[in-house]
Amino acid sequence: MIVRPEQPQARDDPGPPIGTAPTVASWTTDAAEWNLDGTWEFRWSPSSAHQREGGWGSIPVPASFVMPSLDRDAAPAGDHGRPAYTNKWYPFPIDPPRPPDENPVGEYRRRFPLADPPPRAELRFGGIEGAGEVRLNGVLLGSTRGSRLPMAFDVSGLLEGENLLEVRVHQFSAATYLEDQDAWWLPGIIRSVVLRARPVGGVRDVRVRAEWTPSGGMLTVMPELDSALEPGAEVAIEIAELGTTVRAGHPTPVRDALPWSAEDPVLYTLRVRTPAETVTHRIGFRTVGIVDGVFQVNGVPVSLRGVNRHEHHPRLGRHVPPEVVTAELLMMKRHNINAVRTSHYPPDPLFLDLADRLGFWVVDECDVETHGFGEIDWRGNPMDDPRWEPALRDRVARMVERDKNHPCVILWSLGNEAGEGGNVAAMADEFRSRDDSRPLHYEGDQSSAHVDVWSRMYAHPDEVAEIAIGVEPALADDALDARRRAMPFVLCEYAHAMGTGPGGLTEYQDLFDAHPRLMGGFIWEWLEHGVQVDTDQGPVTRYGGDFGEPLHDSNDVIDGLVSAERRPRAQLTDLAQVFAPLRVTIDGARLHVVSRLDHTDSSRYALRYRIEDAAGVRDSGPITAPPLPPRGRTTLDLPQVPPLAVLTVEVVQVGETAWAPGGWVVSRVSTAVPAGIAAQRRGAAPVRRLTLADVDLDPATGALRRLGDLEVTDWRVMLDRVPTDNDRHAGWDEILEFSYAERWRLLGLHDLRSRLVSIERVSVDGPDGEIRVRTVVGGPAVDARVSCRWRWRAVDGGIRLDLAVDPEGHWPAWTAHWARVGVGFSLPGEGRLEWCGRGPGPAYPDLGQAATAGWFAGAVAELQERTVRPQEAGARAASWVRVAAGGQTLEVGLDTASPRGPVNDPAITVRPWSEAALWAAAHDDELIPDGRTHVVLDLVRAGVGTARCGPGVLPAYRLEAQPVRGSLVFFTPDASDANGDRHD
Ligand code: GAL
Repeated sequence: MIVRPEQPQARDDPGPPIGTAPTVASWTTDAAEWNLDGTWEFRWSPSSAHQREGGWGSIPVPASFVMPSLDRDAAPAGDHGRPAYTNKWYPFPIDPPRPPDENPVGEYRRRFPLADPPPRAELRFGGIEGAGEVRLNGVLLGSTRGSRLPMAFDVSGLLEGENLLEVRVHQFSAATYLEDQDAWWLPGIIRSVVLRARPVGGVRDVRVRAEWTPSGGMLTVMPELDSALEPGAEVAIEIAELGTTVRAGHPTPVRDALPWSAEDPVLYTLRVRTPAETVTHRIGFRTVGIVDGVFQVNGVPVSLRGVNRHEHHPRLGRHVPPEVVTAELLMMKRHNINAVRTSHYPPDPLFLDLADRLGFWVVDECDVETHGFGEIDWRGNPMDDPRWEPALRDRVARMVERDKNHPCVILWSLGNEAGEGGNVAAMADEFRSRDDSRPLHYEGDQSSAHVDVWSRMYAHPDEVAEIAIGVEPALADDALDARRRAMPFVLCEYAHAMGTGPGGLTEYQDLFDAHPRLMGGFIWEWLEHGVQVDTDQGPVTRYGGDFGEPLHDSNDVIDGLVSAERRPRAQLTDLAQVFAPLRVTIDGARLHVVSRLDHTDSSRYALRYRIEDAAGVRDSGPITAPPLPPRGRTTLDLPQVPPLAVLTVEVVQVGETAWAPGGWVVSRVSTAVPAGIAAQRRGAAPVRRLTLADVDLDPATGALRRLGDLEVTDWRVMLDRVPTDNDRHAGWDEILEFSYAERWRLLGLHDLRSRLVSIERVSVDGPDGEIRVRTVVGGPAVDARVSCRWRWRAVDGGIRLDLAVDPEGHWPAWTAHWARVGVGFSLPGEGRLEWCGRGPGPAYPDLGQAATAGWFAGAVAELQERTVRPQEAGARAASWVRVAAGGQTLEVGLDTASPRGPVNDPAITVRPWSEAALWAAAHDDELIPDGRTHVVLDLVRAGVGTARCGPGVLPAYRLEAQPVRGSLVFFTPDASDANGDRHD
C-alpha cells in the first residue's frame, strides 16, 4: 500500500523525508530502466515568497544549478543563483529547525514519453542537494532530505505515455542544519535520476555477507523479494565465476574464492534470480576486525595511506561525471594512495563500484555535520536534540542500506564535526543494528564511548607518537579510558594540503610505519574546490567571496593535492613518494627495502638503478631481489658509485595494471648531489673570464647592477617570502603566537630598507683583489636588522661572492623570524633554467620528498607551480644553476656554510613576474609575465609546515634570526651556449 502525502513536508520539519521508499543496495538489474538525466526545464526564484511566473530556461541534470558555467543555459530565463562558500558558518541565523525566508528555489521540469509504461516502478534520485518536493503527473510523491543520500519513490500506477516530472528544490530547510560541511553551498539535483520498473516477484533488496575466514570464503546472501513467489518457484543465487550456488540465508563456504583486499581486489559476480528479475552484484570476500587494539582486514594489520575526498567539479558543482571519477581514482592509484575517507557524506555509488574494482580501503561517512553550532558553544546542536533523532537515524539507514555490500567499505563514519550528544549513541545504535561487520568511526566522539576506533584530526606528530605507544593523557572516566586505550588510532584528517604544502608528511609516515596501533590516516584533502568562471580570456578559477557572498571563508576550500580540474599539484608527487608501497633507503653501499604491503608480496614491483654525472647517464640496470613477503624487509648491495656521480634507485611497476602501464615509476631515492661546482656543472660551455672589473656596483647602494655584459636589476637581500596559505595561520602547536606571515610583517621583512655602510676596494687589479661591501638591512618601525657583508673576488674564471648575514639590534623572543636568507635580482628577457640539485619538482626543507638528486632543466614559465591564490611556490633545491634570459646566460654555484641542518638547503626560484606582482595578485590569472626573469637564490630557508590546520613548521625546519654564511660563485658562459648544449 502506497501512502502518498497530501501536503509537502514543512521546511522547518526536522524529521526524515516523507513519502520515500526504503533504501536498498545499489546493483545492476535486468528490469527495465530509464535514465532521466539530461537537459531539464528550469527556473529560479530568490525565495518562495517571490516565486517567478513563467520564464523557464534549461539546466543540465545532474548539476548544482548555481554554477556560473551554466549561465548560458539558465541565464536566458534569468538568474539561477551563485555558489557561496563558508567553512563552518551557516549563511543564515542559527534558529533551528527554521530556515530563513530568503531561501532560493530551483524548479525543475522534465517531460518524458514511455512507449510501454510499466505498471509498477520506482523513481530513484541519487542525490538532491537542498529540500526537494517531487511530483509526477501532478501527484505529490513526497520530499527529499539528506542531500548526498538516495531517495526513491514508488510510482506504481502513475506512469503514462507522456509524463511530467516536477522537482522543486528549496535551498534551505531544517535538514540544512545537518549539512554544514566545509564546502560551497551548491543546491540542485546533483546525482542521476532513474526510473526502474519493479516486476511482480522481483528482487527488493539483497544483503550479502562475504567473509574471509582462515579456511576461505564464507558467503551468506539474504534476498528480500517484492512479493511471494509462485508455489514451486525459487530464488537462485550463484557466483558465476566459481560455479557456486548458495541457498538464501545459509552461510556457505566458498573454498575456491580468493580474498579481497585493496592490494588485490578480487571480485566475483553474484547473481540473484527470481522468475521475474535477475540482479547482479560484484562481491569480494573480506573480514574486518580489531585484534589486540590493532585494526585488521583478513587477519592481518592494514595501514591506511589515505586522502579525504569531496565531490566537486569546477563547472558542475557537486556532480562529478563518471569519467572524471574514474580518472581521479586511477590517479590516486598511480600515486600510491590506498584509502579514501568519503568526506563528508556518502559518495556517488559509482565511486564505491570503482573502489571495489581498483582496490581502496574506504571510510564511508554519513551526511552529517553541524559545525556551525561549534561557533555558538554547541547551543541547540541537533546532535543533542531528540527532535533530530529520527532524521539522523534515517541518514544512517540510507547510507548503510545503499552501501552495505561493498567490500571496499571497511569503516562506517557517523559524520564529521557534529559535536556530541544523545544522538551519537542513537546513530551508533542504528549502524550496529543494520550492520555489525564494520567498526564505527566518529572523530566528534573523543571519549570514543560510541565508536570502535579512536580518531583525531591534525594531531601533532609528538602527540601521535605518545598515542602510538599508549601513553596518551588519561580520560577522566577510568572505564572509558581503558576502552579507548585498547583501540586502534586513526588520523581521519592530517597534513593540510593547502597552497604550498603540506610540510612534514614524512614525520607522520615514519610513525605509522613503526607502530601497529596507528592505522594511518587521511590527508586533508584530495581536491581543491575551485569554481570556474568563463571569461573572454578563457576559464578562470574563483574562490569564496568572489561571488559577492557577504559571509565567506575566502580560499579555505582551495586546499587539495589536485586542482578542481584534477591537475596534479607538485605535492601529490611528494605524497606518492611518502606513501610508496616499498620504503627504500640508501645507506652507503647498501639499499634497505621495507615493504609496506599488508596482503601481497612485492612481486608487482622491481628495482632498478641509474648512475649519472654531469656528463649524463653512465650506467643503469636492474637490482635483483626476491619478492618480499607482506611487511618484509631486506638489505641489498648497490653498485659502486664513482665519486662525482649520483646513484638513483627507482621502484617500478612490473606489469600493466588498470591504473598504470608496466614500468611506471612508483617511487625513487638517490644519493646526494656531489660536492663542488666542477662536479655539478653540466655542459662544457666556454666561460668568459670575469675579473673584478666586471663587477659593477651601484656606488650609492652597493647593489650589483652589471656583471660583465649582464644587466642586473633589483639586487637585494631577502628574508621573507610571499606567504603561503599555511604561513598565514598560526600552527595549532603555537596557537598563542602570530602566524609566520604576521611575524614577518611585524618585522617589516616585506619592506626591507638597505643602508650602505661602506664599499672598500682592496687591490682590485691584483690576483687577490676584493671588493668589500657592508650594508645594514631592516624593516621600517623596528630595530631588528641584519648586517650584511658582501665580499667579491675573482676565482677560477668566475666571481665569488661571500655573503655573511648577522642579526643585529633586537629580534623578538618568538621563533621563526625568517622565511629565507636569499639574494633576489632580475634579468632582462624571458628565461630558462638548468640546475643541479634536487628535482624535477619543487622542494622545501620539509616538502619535496619526491625530488631526487640530478640535473634538470625547464623554461621558467613551465617551472611555475600555479596556486589558485598566488603565493610562494616552485623553489628548486639547487647547488649549481644556469639561467638563460634575453640571450645572456648566468651560471651560479650556491653553497651554504652555516647554519647546518635541514634549513641549509640552497635553492633557486625563477619567475616570469616580480615578487611584488605575486604579493599583489589575489588570483592566478592576475599574474602576467613582464618579460623579465626574476630570480631568488637562497642560502637557507624555512619549511612550510601545515599551520592552516595542524602543527606549524616543525622546530627543525624553522629559521631563527642567526648568523648565516654562504657563497655564490658567478660565471657568464658564452651566450652562444645559452641553451646549455653539451660539448663532449
Ligand atoms: C576540518 C574539517 C574539514 C575541513 C578542514 C579544513 O576540521 O573536518 O571539513 O574544514 O578542517 O580545511
